Amino acid sequence: MRRKIRKVLITGGAGFIGSEFVRQMCLTKQSLIVVDKLTYAADLCRLQEVEGKFKFYRADICDKKRMSSIVKKEKPDCIVNFAAESHVDRSIIDSDPFIETNIKGTKNLLDLVLKLEVPLIIHISTDEVYGDIKKGSFSEDSPLKPNSPYAASKAAADLLIKSYIRTHKIPAIIVRPSNNYGPWQYPEKLVPLAALMAIKNKKVPVYAKGKNVREWLYVSDCARAVITVMQDGRTGDIYNIGSSQERRNIDTVKSILKALHRPEGLIEFVKDRPGHDFRYALDCRKLKNELGWQPEVKFSEGLSLTVSWLIDNQAWLNKHSRKKLSIRFK
Ligand SMILES: NC(=O)c1ccc[n+]([C@@H]2O[C@H](COP(=O)([O-])OP(=O)(O)OC[C@H]3O[C@@H](n4cnc5c(N)ncnc54)[C@H](O)[C@@H]3O)[C@@H](O)[C@H]2O)c1
Repeated sequence: MRRKIRKVLITGGAGFIGSEFVRQMCLTKQSLIVVDKLTYAADLCRLQEVEGKFKFYRADICDKKRMSSIVKKEKPDCIVNFAAESHVDRSIIDSDPFIETNIKGTKNLLDLVLKLEVPLIIHISTDEVYGDIKKGSFSEDSPLKPNSPYAASKAAADLLIKSYIRTHKIPAIIVRPSNNYGPWQYPEKLVPLAALMAIKNKKVPVYAKGKNVREWLYVSDCARAVITVMQDGRTGDIYNIGSSQERRNIDTVKSILKALHRPEGLIEFVKDRPGHDFRYALDCRKLKNELGWQPEVKFSEGLSLTVSWLIDNQAWLNKHSRKKLSIRFK
């Protein structure tokens, strides 16, 4: 039976995927509370079109006292945790913020769920916790073998959640999406960075020879999957969210250049990322068969929507490109 959820507290709601979740949830009748620390990756512009339809707190999920007072005051029926440091390259340069937010921040939320008896927490994990795979795909039962500090911090959070489910019987569900893309993505990730550089007629950096494979999930499909899991998912379970649409990075970049009418000569192969995962692929039969979710957006269609959005929103792209570190992409 579908859960009765009246009030949802969303952490990281000013981020790329969290904001899409908030925009979709604003079409429902639930009350929405957005909590975000507003790191470099956040932007409340992402929520402009739904302004006034949610309550906002600027807060850090690592701040026990503040988070406790927000949860006590708001009494949500569900917490959806999108808050994270999310960029692999940054985690290689400095993993401290990843350990803080992704592990300690998540643990803080788990303690609040336990202490304040929040009826449900949905935690957004990642396909990267499984490590890479040459052939086939990972199911929810595959062992965790993370390779980057980012993926290790996400895997640590998943293990903590599993331990709280078993030991404290907390009502938690973990979802593990594959690589997302779409409007509003911060231009340090592959798709918006490649588009930004190409629009400016600058060299587009590609790691090694660009043969690494990613499974591309359009952001609206991902957010819809999280809503499906929140409504109908089994407490204590894990759900992979993927699209089965695999592409080599080089082919993704070539498609972006083609859509922008730029030459492939802009591609610049650069030294590979240390520990770079070769291929990710998820088995999503559980989410499809048990909860009836299906991805709706094909990669070619999603990429064309994204590139059009980036062309129309170059001011936003430029605003964030100025904050960009001299690092490359996921
Ligand atoms: N982007 C992807 O391709 C992808 C794929 C799989 C899983 N994920 C996971 O999905 C979630 C959202 O990813 P995203 O791409 O939207 O990330 P993002 O970097 O765009 O947004 C993260 C948001 O969390 C906020 N935040 C960071 N630290 C915080 C803290 N301590 N307290 C409160 N808020 C904080 C930031 O301000 C930002 O608004 C993350 O957990 C990420 O690991 C992302």
